[in-house]
Amino acid sequence: MAEIIRELISEKDVDDKIRELGEQISKDYEGKQVHLVGILKGASFFMCELAKRITVPVSIDFMSVSSYGGGTVSSGRVKIVKDLDDSLEGKNVVIVEDIIDSGRTLNYLEKVLRERGVESIRFCTLLDKPERRVVDLHVDYTGFRIPDEFVVGYGMDYDQKYRNLPYIGVVELQ
Ligand code: IMP
Ligand code: MG
Repeated sequence: MAEIIRELISEKDVDDKIRELGEQISKDYEGKQVHLVGILKGASFFMCELAKRITVPVSIDFMSVSSYGGGTVSSGRVKIVKDLDDSLEGKNVVIVEDIIDSGRTLNYLEKVLRERGVESIRFCTLLDKPERRVVDLHVDYTGFRIPDEFVVGYGMDYDQKYRNLPYIGVVELQ
């Protein structure tokens, strides 16, 4: 089956939105330093662009997580595959995600990272599929709310492909 990518959000719309998010974060953290924590690999493209739009001092770190166990039904548990390099002690942390689906990943990370002596912790996601949420989660910065469709581009993959697309698209199998 051939895969076709249908554009959902254009490169310009994504870039404009990231600029807005960066401006908002810069206002909210006036006089402070923001510590951006990106969730690999998906959030990496978004996080670098976002960091460029933030005008207060920024430090960055990355971590990699995966869902526990096989099967089609997620256990809701998440495993840290690559932990952060730096301590979170006393930092104003913003967790940066590409997309929130069930919310389980961020729900888990919030619990774990809060215990590391953070000054504050907030969530920023480029995309959100609210219909899919199974856990309660407060998201502070959201780029776009999208319908329940599988998207790629801007860091997000389908079978490790399409991360490099500069726009966001929906995978259609033909
Ligand atoms: P959650 O724990 O269910 O919220 O899962 C979020 C993670 O699932 C994201 O960080 C992505 O890695 C992945 N994901 C969810 N929906 C999509 C999608 O439409 N395209 C690509 N990855 C997705
Ligand atoms: Mg991800």
